[in-house]
Amino acid sequence: MTVTDIFQQIFEAEPLVVQSPGRINLLGEHTDYNEGFVLPAAVNKYATVAISANDTGNIVMHSVQFNKTVTVPLADIAPQTENSWTNYVLGVTDGLIHGGKKVTGFNIAVDGDIPIGAGMSSSAGISCAVAFALNELFSLGLSREQLARTAQWAEHNYAGVACGIMDQFASLFGKANHLIQLDCRSIEYKYVPIEMEGYALVLFNTNVKHNLASTEYNQRRQQCEKGVALVKEKYPQVNSLRDVTMDMLHELVEPVDQSTFTRCKYVVEENDRLLKGCEDLRNGDLVAFGKKMFATHHGLSQEYNVSCPELDFLVDAVRNDADVLGARMMGGGFGGCTINLIKEEAIERIATDLAPKYEAAMGKPLTTYVVLTGDGTSIVSKPVVAA
Ligand code: GLA
Repeated sequence: MTVTDIFQQIFEAEPLVVQSPGRINLLGEHTDYNEGFVLPAAVNKYATVAISANDTGNIVMHSVQFNKTVTVPLADIAPQTENSWTNYVLGVTDGLIHGGKKVTGFNIAVDGDIPIGAGMSSSAGISCAVAFALNELFSLGLSREQLARTAQWAEHNYAGVACGIMDQFASLFGKANHLIQLDCRSIEYKYVPIEMEGYALVLFNTNVKHNLASTEYNQRRQQCEKGVALVKEKYPQVNSLRDVTMDMLHELVEPVDQSTFTRCKYVVEENDRLLKGCEDLRNGDLVAFGKKMFATHHGLSQEYNVSCPELDFLVDAVRNDADVLGARMMGGGFGGCTINLIKEEAIERIATDLAPKYEAAMGKPLTTYVVLTGDGTSIVSKPVVAA
């Protein structure tokens, strides 16, 4: 049954149906909240919501995955500790209200096929679908960029993760067969066509759910801010790690705080790596691009310290395979997937070989996804208007 069928069964109304994709990211990890660059793409896996207005003053939410319905009066809107999936609906609604928009009661059913906890941003998929749907339903007139900001607000205030803008931006602005080169300071972006030349993007899911992620994520963000504050004492014009050079870090951070230095070093180098990686893509040099993916993994694992043994295992296992150009952990870290650039005809050999080795070493199954890029948030169907 589709989410539309389920919605009709529960709410006996014709819904507006909106889908919003998950994302991958090729280079530029933990750079977005440092006003740096990212290179994500939307994938062809989506969160889907079916929605219609009601006149009860309540938000009535049904999760298809959990087979559960939860009602929260608009007047009592607040973060929930139970049924945490409702936070994406409630957080976005509250974000819109905070932005001065008028939202009344509505019914919503939420479904999707973005793997949860795999680092593919299923949460951004849901919140962007909800934001887009509410904007449409109540004719709020917000741009895609404003919807991305609202979904980010929800993540900060309802899920407790002080995330950057990458995931929401990728979900709303994705374009099939393209990467998005986004400057997270100016929010200027360009679409970079993907010429895969016989290679494919493959995700290996560690099946480790990143439980530690939000605490550690927020701590990393604070360390980056600390590094900026140390540099700012001498260079007041500096506002983020985007403005910071390695020389500044050596001069002002390294002597004071080695751990903060190492974290900031990774971010400064990753921004530089991304710009060079985009140059590789323009030159059609996937080999050079792949090497940068391995270098990013090294930085994330050894300097930024957001990897885990399972992710490191999967990257090490493919490092010397001639059919793998690049591999690294993807997303916030502490679990989720690695992203790999693999020759198409070698995918089956590598996945079949890797699964039992991974399971024997780590005691968890390995899941493989060959991902295709997809378009950003869109309307699937509108309610049929009676003649
Ligand atoms: C999570 C966050 C993003 C980004 C990545 C790391 O996915 O939601 O904003 O910071 O981690 O690059």
